Amino acid sequence: MSRKKITVVGAGNVGASVAAYASAQELGDVVLVDVIEGMPQGKGLDMFETTPVLGVDTRVLGTNDYEPSANSDVVVITAGIARKPGMSRDDLLSTNVKIVGTVAQQAAKASPNAVMIVISNPLDAMVYTAWKKSGFDPRRVVGMAGVLDTARFRCFIADEIGVSVEDIQALVLGGHGDSMVPLTRYCSVGGVPITRFIGETRLEEIVQRTRQGGAEIVGLLKTGSAYYAPAASAVQMIKSVLLDKKRLLPCAAYLQGEFDRNGVFVGVPTILGSAGVEKIVDLELTEDERNAFDASVEAVRALMKEVDALL
Ligand code: NAI
Ligand code: 2OP
Repeated sequence: MSRKKITVVGAGNVGASVAAYASAQELGDVVLVDVIEGMPQGKGLDMFETTPVLGVDTRVLGTNDYEPSANSDVVVITAGIARKPGMSRDDLLSTNVKIVGTVAQQAAKASPNAVMIVISNPLDAMVYTAWKKSGFDPRRVVGMAGVLDTARFRCFIADEIGVSVEDIQALVLGGHGDSMVPLTRYCSVGGVPITRFIGETRLEEIVQRTRQGGAEIVGLLKTGSAYYAPAASAVQMIKSVLLDKKRLLPCAAYLQGEFDRNGVFVGVPTILGSAGVEKIVDLELTEDERNAFDASVEAVRALMKEVDALL
């Protein structure tokens, strides 16, 4: 059986980290594409030279064109600009819509059967852009945000109560932005409801920190945004697709009646397998959760309108 192939477009902080993690986990050969001459080639070679030390057989190749990426099983889009202090994810929209649109079109032409995982921000609007420009079935275009937002939530809770991060189960719905909806009702510690460990007021503070998780890192780094946790989150999704693991992960997926909404990409629980988003797990929401989710969907729809005007 030949090895799987992963294309990562954008060889910056997130893209290079995705390539490094994916090759270290031997998920497949990796092709790193970027517009900067020499940079993806240099990073790709550096990563390939890491493989004997790690004891893995994966090729990593950097390039400025899509030919070497042909027939990839997964395409990850990280191309675009990242947030600087004071910028919201939405400020990135006008620049990134052009970049992501072009990239999605080129990558889809080279790899018509791939599952496309979008990371560029503003996330939900960029997944929509990539879907429109790729011409792919919506089940094969999915956005990474929920795994990252959930990971942040899990870290903060684990820290608060002094247990392993592994034992925290959590779920975040909605757009990747200030309107994200962490569902505390579904949060547990080894199956024990979170309310057994943390009071309502403190939990709300942790939810708020999660919503601001991206900005917290931007404020510290000052020159860009997070990349280790985002890349690891994307690699968890890549793994579920390539190994057809069918993990239940929160991802930005296209709603076609689920959650009583249609025609919008937004964060929901999905089952990810070789066909992409194989199922969206619909949930009954309480009135408060429904209001928060609807507000988040409307925020995403407003960005989609801006995308439509720019495409
Ligand atoms: P970065 O600036 O380090 O890397 C972006 C790369 O894209 C650069 O190397 C640039 O040359 C490349 N690029 C620009 N136009 C291109 C094109 N047409 N084709 C190929 N490559 C192109 O930025 P970083 O930190 O890697 O972030 C990338 C994106 O991911 C940003 O939009 C950021 O906001 C987003 N992000 C999203 C997260 C999420 O949870 N969804 C988490 C972290 C970052
Ligand atoms: C994050 O959440 C910037 O969206 C990025 O870290």
